[in-house]
Amino acid sequence: MKFSETLIAKLSQARSVCVLTGAGISAESGVPTFRGEEGLWKKFRPEELANFDAFIRNPDLVWEWYAYRRKLIQDVRPNPGHYALVEMEERFPDFTLVTQNVDNLHRRAGSRRVFELHGNIERSYCIECRTFVPELKLDELKGTPRCEKCGGLIRPDVVWFGELLPPGLFAEAEAAAMRCGVFLSIGTSAVVYPAASLPYTALEHGAYVVVINPERTDLSSHAQETVLGKAGEILPLLVHGLSAKSKGDV
Ligand code: APR
Repeated sequence: MKFSETLIAKLSQARSVCVLTGAGISAESGVPTFRGEEGLWKKFRPEELANFDAFIRNPDLVWEWYAYRRKLIQDVRPNPGHYALVEMEERFPDFTLVTQNVDNLHRRAGSRRVFELHGNIERSYCIECRTFVPELKLDELKGTPRCEKCGGLIRPDVVWFGELLPPGLFAEAEAAAMRCGVFLSIGTSAVVYPAASLPYTALEHGAYVVVINPERTDLSSHAQETVLGKAGEILPLLVHGLSAKSKGDV
């Protein structure tokens, strides 16, 4: 895999790097994406499972689905793509990892500063008193869990369609996109807003924007580069290429 000299040069000079990840970075760990051939939205109906009204209408169905996804995620591990971003966090003085994933795999890989724009499936809270509940034991989960404090319905701490992102968090992600020298959009179809607006914000502020994906995305026609391939294969090579560059091996 040969990266463009421009990409290696831009990354070698960059002090500030911002990364946006999507379901694709977890695909090689065995977590299905949403819109791919085997994507979750091909099999399940988001309008029945991933919005607040659906939850109120049928909380048991929604929890059944989140229990299925949590079990799937607990049984997999981060892959070399996740670990390469941990190395990047150590390398760049100002590194911001923004993810749309709720699978907690970036944290499990060791990334420290992770902006979870769509929440985290491992967390849950009461819709009445907003109390966060300790780790829910999946095998003990029968139907919809209730809040021990007020008896309210417990929901997963994920952002459903039609809901706002955590306001402070998105503003910080935007600030990182505005100040970065290089912006990497990894494993996302870049169609879900407002997360998908971040690479355009970076473009408007002069960043070098690169898509990393096995296929071109909507963003590809605007980005400076699209590197076609799997994140778990490309990112370790990119990190390796950078270290070789700084050692003057190339
Ligand atoms: N490496 C990199 N990219 C990959 C890989 C891989 N191994 N495998 C698949 N991809 C790419 C696909 O080509 C696709 O462009 O990952 C992308 C996944 O896109 P989506 O399934 O649309 O997932 P994402 O962009 O994360 O969805 C955004 O939509 O459903 C909501 O809230 C959910 O956070 C999610 C949001």
